[in-house]
Amino acid sequence: MMCGITGTPGTGKSMVGDELSRRGHTVVHLTDTVGPYVSGNDAERDARIIDTDRWAAEFVPVDGFVEGHIAHLLPCDRIVVLRCRPDELKKRLAKRKYRKEKVRENADAEALDVCLIETVENFSPVQILELDTTARDATYCADQIERFEKGAIPADFGHIDWSGFLEVQ
Ligand SMILES: Nc1ncnc2c1ncn2[C@@H]1O[C@H](COP(=O)(O)OP(=O)(O)OP(=O)(O)O)[C@@H](O)[C@H]1O
Ligand SMILES: [Mg+2]
Repeated sequence: MMCGITGTPGTGKSMVGDELSRRGHTVVHLTDTVGPYVSGNDAERDARIIDTDRWAAEFVPVDGFVEGHIAHLLPCDRIVVLRCRPDELKKRLAKRKYRKEKVRENADAEALDVCLIETVENFSPVQILELDTTARDATYCADQIERFEKGAIPADFGHIDWSGFLEVQ
């Protein structure tokens, strides 16, 4: 059983992944696996360009968790989309010293449900859990993810509307 953890940068994928790893689960941090698939650099967006088709095609599935904002491109059995209210997300990213434009780009992507929409396009509704991490700690999030992975809590998504936080003109 491979369970993906996806979400906009700053939603807490790595933090909850570390907690799951402390609890004894196998957790693959997907940023560690993309190295051979970097095909360039997008200077304007301050991001690496990754050949995600080839990366996903060559990824060897694991029994455990895979965390990263491209986890929903893998053939996961279940997928968790971490969410964070855009105003709180901006604070988390600012603390990480992200550039102003990049903070805003990610806050807007979160307000527009980009990761959730991409996930819904790739998975059946029964495979998806949307988890709001705003004002929640890693212990709570890891508990919920463990329960979902075991089938103890049902799939659930689509209740969040953060369109009011959108800043694009
Ligand atoms: N549940 C949470 N509550 C408060 N702060 C959090 C929470 N989860 C993560 N953070 C903080 O937000 C920042 C980003 O967290 P993290 O690195 O886990 O995000 P990420 O989703 O892995 O981002 P990326 O996609 O860039 O790897 C960190 O500084 C972390 O301490
Ligand atoms: Mg991370």
